[in-house]
Amino acid sequence: MADTVVGADPHADPSRRDFIHIAAAAAAGGAAVAVVWPLIDQMNPAGDTLALASIEFDLTKVAEGQQVVIKWRGKPLFVRNRTAAEIQKAVATPMSELRDPQSDDARHKPGKPQWLVLVGTCTHLGCVPTFGGGEYGGWFCPCHGSHYDTSGRIRKGPAPKNLVVPDWDFLSDTKIKVG
Ligand code: FES
Repeated sequence: MADTVVGADPHADPSRRDFIHIAAAAAAGGAAVAVVWPLIDQMNPAGDTLALASIEFDLTKVAEGQQVVIKWRGKPLFVRNRTAAEIQKAVATPMSELRDPQSDDARHKPGKPQWLVLVGTCTHLGCVPTFGGGEYGGWFCPCHGSHYDTSGRIRKGPAPKNLVVPDWDFLSDTKIKVG
């Protein structure tokens, strides 16, 4: 009975007032979820379209000497804007020093050596290598110690292959399409 009296005036009991605020907030949150979920759900591609999915990316988001990691087909994708020194280092490496020999110019588009686009998973067991790390200034995989150079080529550690260059191309000077 006492509960009924207090409940009639929420301002009479701070704990009751808190309950009302929490209940109101929860109701508002529930409404937001109900509205937003169908939109998110529609954005989930079906399994078969996921395999074919391509993405576009604006290169102006990547400053010189930096990389941006985006997600593509459920994997990280490295988009790196190399400095002249990083390019020079990659170009000057003799093929005889490479475990998975590939020239630097086979790993970028003609006339645009600054842009590297690579699947960001280590070719050993699939960890994500860290940018700028390792003995060759490219990437370092912390899982078991693989070192990649500034072309994404494997140089040291257990990984057998270079970081994979996906199918990609320029749509304009500042926009690319991957996949
Ligand atoms: S997963 Fe990268 S070194 Fe093992």
